[in-house]
Formats: sequence, C-alpha cells, structure tokens
Amino acid sequence: MITIKKLSNGFEYLEILNDSATAKIALQGAHIFEYKRKTQDELFWLSEISDFELGKAIRGGVPICWPSFGMNNPELPQHGFARTSLFECTSCEEIDANTTEVQLRLTHSEESLKLWNYKFALVLKVTISDKLTMELKTTNLDEKEFKLTQALHSYFKLSDISNAVVKGLENKPCFNALTNETNIQNGEITFNQEFDKVFQKVDSELILQDREKTISINNEGSSSVVVWNPWIDKCKRMSAMKDDAYKEFVCIESANAFEDFIVLKSKQEHTLKATISLV
Ligand code: BG6
Repeated sequence: MITIKKLSNGFEYLEILNDSATAKIALQGAHIFEYKRKTQDELFWLSEISDFELGKAIRGGVPICWPSFGMNNPELPQHGFARTSLFECTSCEEIDANTTEVQLRLTHSEESLKLWNYKFALVLKVTISDKLTMELKTTNLDEKEFKLTQALHSYFKLSDISNAVVKGLENKPCFNALTNETNIQNGEITFNQEFDKVFQKVDSELILQDREKTISINNEGSSSVVVWNPWIDKCKRMSAMKDDAYKEFVCIESANAFEDFIVLKSKQEHTLKATISLV
C-alpha cells in the first residue's frame, strides 16, 4: 500500500507498506526517513527533535547531498540544495507483495539555476523490500558539462556508538576532515571520539556491526565513502540534534566525493546506487 500523507504545515511524505517492510519518504529532498523490515527495528536514526518543515533538511534518515558534497563546491550551500528541494513523485509501483518501487524527480528551476546554472534531471529510485535499494540518477540536460559530487548520507541507528564497528575500509586511503591529513586506514573502525573521514578507492561491501545486528552496504557507481560521528562537542553545536544524540547513530555515506567527483557532458547520466540489507 502506498499512501500520501500531509502534515498540518503542508509537509508531504509517502508511506509505503508491503509484506516485507515499511518506509516513509518525504517529497522534500526525496528524503527516506524511515525504513523498517517487518520484524525488525528501524534501520535509520531520526532525530526526535528534527523539523519536518519546508526549507529545513530533516536530521536523520538518508539526506541526499547533491550536486555538491560538503563544501566541495564552495559556491553552493553545504551538501548542495537537493535536500531542501521539493521532488515530484513520478511513479509508485507495487511490483509484488514484498516489493514496492518509488521514483522521485527533481529538475532545474528558476531558483536552482540561480544557485547552480545547469539544467538537469535528478531521479531517486527507491526499492523497498527485505532490503533497501536507492538509485540516484543524474542526467545532464544542459549544453555544457558539469562537475558533480554527492552522497546518500545514511544515518544508521545504533544500540550505542561504543558497540559500532565498521568493516571493509581497512587499508583504504582516507582524508581526515578534522586534521586535513590523508593517510591509510589502519584496521576496522571503532568510535571513541569525533570521526569525520572520506575514504577513497572503496570497491567492496561494507559491514556495520552493532551489538545485535549486522548491516551490509553495497555501493555501485561510487568509490568513496564518508564515515562520520560528531561526538560530544560537535553534537551540542549541531542543529536539530539533542546533546547526547551522537551515541545513537553513525553515518556511512555512499558517495562521489572529493577526488571521486563525476563530470557529465551534455546528455550523459550517472547513477549512484546503494543497497542496504540486514544480514
Ligand atoms: C557529513 C560531514 O557528511 O555531514 C560532516 O562529513 C558534517 O562534516 C555532517 O558535519 C552533517 O552536515 P549537515 O550539513 O547536515 O549539518
């Protein structure tokens, strides 16, 4: 079942229910803010004090950072403008009892052209089944080429940050955004302080191990991954986040960021795909 819901302030989202899972996707930002397999807990963390308001990005779930990751393009707002733009739902299909496919689309507008002077189509295809698949396709509809950085900025819900282990990034080159140093990741990742690194040359499955669950992340059309947790001090400074919220999540972002940027010539397209499952 697919239902369009509207909050009293006009904020709209899709609610998807099938035999395998449930999901909620806001039209603003094509932002998945809930995904839950039938017998399991929420996959994503969602801030209990997040705004659901047009013009403000939801804190949690999977914000889409596009057409710039972080401040990769310093002329654009942090993480671009897609996460606060209103997408249109162009297709909703119940493939079978266990699988629902939804497509949301954003194209250039007078407003976007003022920020970023390119014509484009950005489509997020989400497949909700016993796993979650997100395919973010960018098409260059302009005459001139453009450069793109992006991320599916997943906030994974944890029992506690002290239980989290990220596997699959060992020996990968990484840029530490806190020290501005590039080095090689030594071993699996655990967390006991602020962490903000961009890994490159990532070409295989990632595993997030929590106390009672194991999450598998497979990325295609991407060779960079961002791992982030704000820890105590930054968490206090973050918008729409309670002071101790850093304990409840880690972000593992499927990306094309920093040197893994994409250049699209006129009419070319690129798809960033992430498949997430509980194993
Ligand atoms: C991450 C960055 O991708 O996003 C962090 O690596 C940043 O540096 C975080 O703090 C959250 O960004 P924002 O714009 O949603 O507050």
